[in-house]
This record gives sequence, structure tokens and C-alpha cells, in this order.
Amino acid sequence: MEKAPEYHVPVLGPEVVEHLITDPDGTYVDATLGGGGHAELILEQLGSEGRLIGVDRDPVAIATTSQRLARYGKRFDQRQIPFWQLPDTLGSLGVEGLDGALFDLGVSSRQIDDAARGFSYRQDGPLDMRMGPDASQTAEQVVNQYSERDLTRVFREYGEERASTRIARSIVRGREEEPIRSTQQLVDLVTAQVPERFATKSLARIFQGIRIEVNGELDHLEPTLNGIVDRLVTGGRLAVLTYHSLEDRVVKRVVRGTPQSSLPRDFPVADPNAGKMKELVRRGITASEDEVAVNPRARSAKLRIGVKV
Ligand SMILES: C[S@@+](CC[C@H](N)C(=O)[O-])C[C@H]1O[C@@H](n2cnc3c(N)ncnc32)[C@H](O)[C@@H]1O
Repeated sequence: MEKAPEYHVPVLGPEVVEHLITDPDGTYVDATLGGGGHAELILEQLGSEGRLIGVDRDPVAIATTSQRLARYGKRFDQRQIPFWQLPDTLGSLGVEGLDGALFDLGVSSRQIDDAARGFSYRQDGPLDMRMGPDASQTAEQVVNQYSERDLTRVFREYGEERASTRIARSIVRGREEEPIRSTQQLVDLVTAQVPERFATKSLARIFQGIRIEVNGELDHLEPTLNGIVDRLVTGGRLAVLTYHSLEDRVVKRVVRGTPQSSLPRDFPVADPNAGKMKELVRRGITASEDEVAVNPRARSAKLRIGVKV
């Protein structure tokens, strides 16, 4: 059997490095260290005074990647925290101004491939889906304890699944018979509610919705990105890779420095981020056919880069 690669191929790696690094002796953050694919590319470009701080909420990612990148010595530092603690952590590390920050959002292929983490509808495992121990609930808790209405909301808002109501109802009925503890039980309940030809897409959407809810992925994104924008030096870069439109909507707003659309136009307090950022490549950067052919994960990726003005 072919040996699995030690870490996944970083999505849009050369493009990230090209747009992120403006000063090789500057200070950078990789807020989603994962297997360290991007981190390694960045470290390769840094000079002797350059510094990269890698963050991940997953202790497994931190342990394996910090070992792998130990050869970069004092240029590399890492912290196991959810990235919304970054603005405070940077303060405690004595970082005054950041030259660039990278966010490669979502789960890593390593997390998906590990059946015991429960992220994948392709393998049977416990319904966990926590990216790290700091997450306040597991997928099992969401699936067994949320009301039918809340499940419908999660599937609709975070999964953008059309059959949300029907699937939520069938989960509530299913758990009355026995608790839903495994990914396979969930897969069976979902696939029974959708035509076979849509089953894979519905499974992907339902699993995505639950994962976003479990990890609070959208709750903290905008305030975190705005906190990072505050820490960037003038000309500093914010590079964000997203894999679905819900995240991209938020990221677009931040890198363009446009006010939150939910605020009324005459809202007395200006958006803290308004006017501070300019987007570098207007529609964002997507992967080439060649990259997608070798790295299917790149298919849905969009890289947006903002420059602090
Ligand atoms: C797509 S992977 C990153 C892969 C990485 N760029 C590489 O090249 O290997 C996303 C990583 O971000 C982490 N992550 C996601 N949300 C996070 C958050 N809110 N705080 C900290 N880490 C997070 C996940 O645990 C996962 O390891």
C-alpha cells in the first residue's frame, strides 16, 4: 500500500508566499498551522531575523508540526490556542506589528482522514468533530440534544442544505429509538431522506453544518480577522484561504475594509475595520486545473489578500 504523505500539499502555496511576505525579516503568523505545509514554505523565505508564529487549536497538529519545523530554530514559535485568542497572545509574545497573517480555514486532510475524529462521512467513527479540546461540544451532543428547529437551522445556515427540515425531523425520530453515536448512524439517517444521486452532496453539507456548529467556526471569524488587521503594520498583508461561500463572504468584507452589511447605513458607530484594508486581487485567487488535478482539496479554495492601508 502507498504510504500516506506526512502532511498535505499546501493549497495555492506559491501564491500565498508571494503575496504574504513583503519583508523576509518581518514577523508573520500562520493562524491555522495544521500539517505546516504553508508554514514551511514561509519559513524557507524568511531571513535570519524573520519570525513565524504558528497557531492551531488541535494538539496533534501542534505536536507533530512543531517537531517537523524544529530545524528553523528561533525563527519558528507555536501555540496551541483557538485563533480568536491570537490578538491577546501576540501581545504576550511582545509582537508589536505584524507584517503578515495567514488563515487557511477549515479542517485539515489529516483530521478528515482520521476516522476516530468523526469528520468524515466516508468512514465510520464516533461523532466527535472537535478540532481541538477547547470546543464546547461534540457532534454527538449537537445531533442528540439540539431541538428539531435548531438542527434545521444548523443544516440550512451552515450546510446550505435544501432538505434541512426533512433531515432534522428524521434525526429527531431516529434518536428517539436509540442515541446517534457514530458517523455511520448519521449517514444512514441522512441518505434515507434524499435521492441517491444527491446523497454525497447532502452528506457533505450536513457534516459541514455540524462541524461549523461544533467548532463555532463562523462565530469568531470576523472579530478575529479585524483584531489581526489592527495588529498589521501599514503595507502588512492578510491572506485568507476559504473553502465555502459562508466564510468567503466574511473574508471579502474584511480584506476590502467595507463596513458590516448588517449595520444600518446611519449606524452611529463606524465599523472598526472600515477603510483600513484594500483587496489586492479583486476576485481572489483560485487554483489552476493542474493544481486541482494533484490536490482535489484545492478545487473549492479561494485565496483573498488584503493590504493594510
Ligand atoms: C486547512 S488546515 C491548515 C493546513 C495548513 N495550512 C498546512 O499547510 O498544513 C486548518 C487547520 O486549522 C486549524 N483550525 C481551524 N480553525 C481554527 C481555530 N479557530 N483556531 C485554531 N486553529 C484552527 C485546524 O485544526 C486545522 O489544523
